[in-house]
Amino acid sequence: MLHSHGLDQNHSSYAGPLLRGSSNWLRLNKVPIVTLHQEQNSPKMIAVLRYSSSRLLRSSINARMTRFSKPQAMSTVPKTAQDWSAAQYLKFEDERTQPARDLLARIPLQSPKTVVDLGCGPGNSTAVLESRFPDANLIGIDSSPDMIRKAQSALPHREFTVGDLRTYRPHGPVDLFFSNAVFQWLGKEERFVIVKKLLETQPSGGVVALQVPDNLMEPSHVLMRETAKNGPWASALQNVSRDVFQTPREIYDLLKPICSTVDIFHTTYNHSLENHAAIVEWVKGTGLRPYLDPLSVDEKEGFLREYLKRLEKAYMATYDGRVLLAYPRLFVVAVKK
Ligand SMILES: C[S@@+](CC[C@H](N)C(=O)[O-])C[C@H]1O[C@@H](n2cnc3c(N)ncnc32)[C@H](O)[C@@H]1O
Repeated sequence: MLHSHGLDQNHSSYAGPLLRGSSNWLRLNKVPIVTLHQEQNSPKMIAVLRYSSSRLLRSSINARMTRFSKPQAMSTVPKTAQDWSAAQYLKFEDERTQPARDLLARIPLQSPKTVVDLGCGPGNSTAVLESRFPDANLIGIDSSPDMIRKAQSALPHREFTVGDLRTYRPHGPVDLFFSNAVFQWLGKEERFVIVKKLLETQPSGGVVALQVPDNLMEPSHVLMRETAKNGPWASALQNVSRDVFQTPREIYDLLKPICSTVDIFHTTYNHSLENHAAIVEWVKGTGLRPYLDPLSVDEKEGFLREYLKRLEKAYMATYDGRVLLAYPRLFVVAVKK
């Protein structure tokens, strides 16, 4: 039997977000071919990743997809060049986790038996879930081996699995699917197909709760796109883009037919950061990744210098020399009929 909680065992192919987490990677012509197969007489699932991009041909990777129920198993997961970096992501851990707390506060469940943290990252959102639902069977799933490694060491008593939301199927009924800052990385067409599939597996009263950044029109992201278009890297980055998220009305129309309530709301955080370079550090862990990954070391440095110059013009410093990063986010709490 495959130890593959979170992976659809009928799927023979798998594409993790370190490769296809957004259509950015695809559009950059780094088309990964990933095949899952089972080692003979072994419970482990092996994913062999091959890239068609010339830049990435050098980095043909064998990634071991293993269910981690024991912390010592973590050492079997190699860190890949294009993987998310848990360390970079956690530089702003408190700011990134606040939306998870705010989302949790709106979930109308008292004592769910099973809770799944979809795209659990380094386990920060899982820890928030654990503090509210300590007795729940709490499972974290993420396609990044580095993130899962970090999550498992942060919460060794919980179960974490490398898996992709596109192929994930729960093994039993799940009362709460929780997802903080993940669905924006999926293609527009797939997001709510996944959400609806998850809702269909849930008992009446089950909840899907998700939060996504709503910041594509903020200077931080507009200037990323402007920098990409203006520089020696322009042709390498010409196809990088992220699908806009569905509007509240689109979300409501998609979910309400199978839900008793669909609660949609926005919050804009204003994060006080040390300086403009801190904005760069913030987005380096997330939104800037598709722009930096295809570039050489020199190109990356040039891109970051140009981007920083633009940020310095766009964000006026506060009286104490800091910078306020406005960060709008969209929240959805859907309760199954
Ligand atoms: C911005 S982090 C969010 C981490 C955490 N949930 C939090 O609250 O901070 C996004 C995470 O989603 C994961 N991810 C992106 N696309 C995914 C997919 N298709 N399937 C599973 N995980 C995915 C990434 O690996 C990353 O760890």
